Amino acid sequence: MDPHQQHPIRLRLNGQDREFDVESWVTLLDLLRERAGLTGTKKGCDHGQCGACTVLLDGRRVNACLTLAVMQDGHEVTTIEGLARNEGDRGELHPLQQAFIACDAFQCGYCTPGQICSAAGLIAEGQAKTIADVRELMSGNLCRCGAYPQIVRAVAQVLELDASALDEGKPLTTGSVLA
Ligand code: FES
Ligand code: FES
Repeated sequence: MDPHQQHPIRLRLNGQDREFDVESWVTLLDLLRERAGLTGTKKGCDHGQCGACTVLLDGRRVNACLTLAVMQDGHEVTTIEGLARNEGDRGELHPLQQAFIACDAFQCGYCTPGQICSAAGLIAEGQAKTIADVRELMSGNLCRCGAYPQIVRAVAQVLELDASALDEGKPLTTGSVLA
């Protein structure tokens, strides 16, 4: 089999129908960054360890580095570029994007697109009822700058959760890796 054989695929990408010809070994992450020009999605580890590449696939969060583009033919992909609403010449940030700014929830910003897409998926899942839930369910998204308290605060703000434990500096005990 020719490894360079091209396979036509169609994606609903950030609300637009897009067509690509890709080799079978191209990941969704590389398609987004290298062929669709959507470099908001970041490549960190490239093997499912850091969450920097998190996007929404049919509304569910996935690591784009772990899925092949050809597997997603006909599916809907939303990246960080697709979260803000653009109507005419007016744009409006997604509530999570606004909260990340308001809560100062990033430093270098490299993890931020993945954090925000993951948080959007988390909210859609409807499982996070407490700060501890947020920490646990966001634990697949690493931040080398250690902005975890602010990230959790931003997500909690959008979920309208009680963040008083963060304000009081209480230790937040869960199985989360976010320390
Ligand atoms: S780049 Fe995909 S999980 Fe790290
Ligand atoms: S803000 Fe730098 S890695 Fe998270």
